[in-house]
Amino acid sequence: MSAMAGHFLTIEGIEGVGKTTQVARLSRALRERGIDHVVTREPGGTPLAEKIRDIVLNNVGGESLPATAELLLMFAGRAVHLANHVEPNLRAGRWVVCDRFTDATYAYQGGGRRLTMDIIRQLEVMVQGTRRPDLTLWLDAPVEQALKRARERNSGGATDRFESERAEFFERVREVYRARAAAEPNRIHVIDAAQSADAVTAQMLQALEKRSWIT
Ligand code: TMP
Repeated sequence: MSAMAGHFLTIEGIEGVGKTTQVARLSRALRERGIDHVVTREPGGTPLAEKIRDIVLNNVGGESLPATAELLLMFAGRAVHLANHVEPNLRAGRWVVCDRFTDATYAYQGGGRRLTMDIIRQLEVMVQGTRRPDLTLWLDAPVEQALKRARERNSGGATDRFESERAEFFERVREVYRARAAAEPNRIHVIDAAQSADAVTAQMLQALEKRSWIT
């Protein structure tokens, strides 16, 4: 990484913790400080990776999508996204703020779908080499509270393949996020997302101040 490279910041959390709102607020706060950044997401983030997102979230046309295929599609999209968007922006000195990244694969495919963590680790190395987020903000809230919010937001709308999962699935997802945060406390910063939107934004900005990324 050159001295000019931007920061790679990822935002994680289960459905309904307010991630999308908070990513938008964070972007506004960075803009106000004149910090050159791009906001992106996974799965997706480039036209091709968004096509993969559509397949993995919605478009299976009645066929089953085995968990193994889901895992490989997540990493296929990630490879495309890294090559075409994340790495070029970091090299150009921009911050990359990414709504979900590989922690989500450990949490959803490893925890939720119960795939082997070691296989995920091997795919991570294959696709990313040594690239890891510089900082991950994990927005954590109780599953029941988060799912209630996700359902209210979605009422009347179609649910994707993950949104239709049950609470036990998201408990397993949350458990993996928790374990990863405990194992990597320097990289993964836990945000209490049960609080008000303003309080959550404040915690996120404090995490950046603590690292002297912003003042
Ligand atoms: P989003 O709706 O927050 O954009 O995320 C789409 C879904 O994709 C969400 O339910 C989590 C899931 N997901 C995985 O299962 N594995 C992954 O690696 C990523 C990035 C997302």
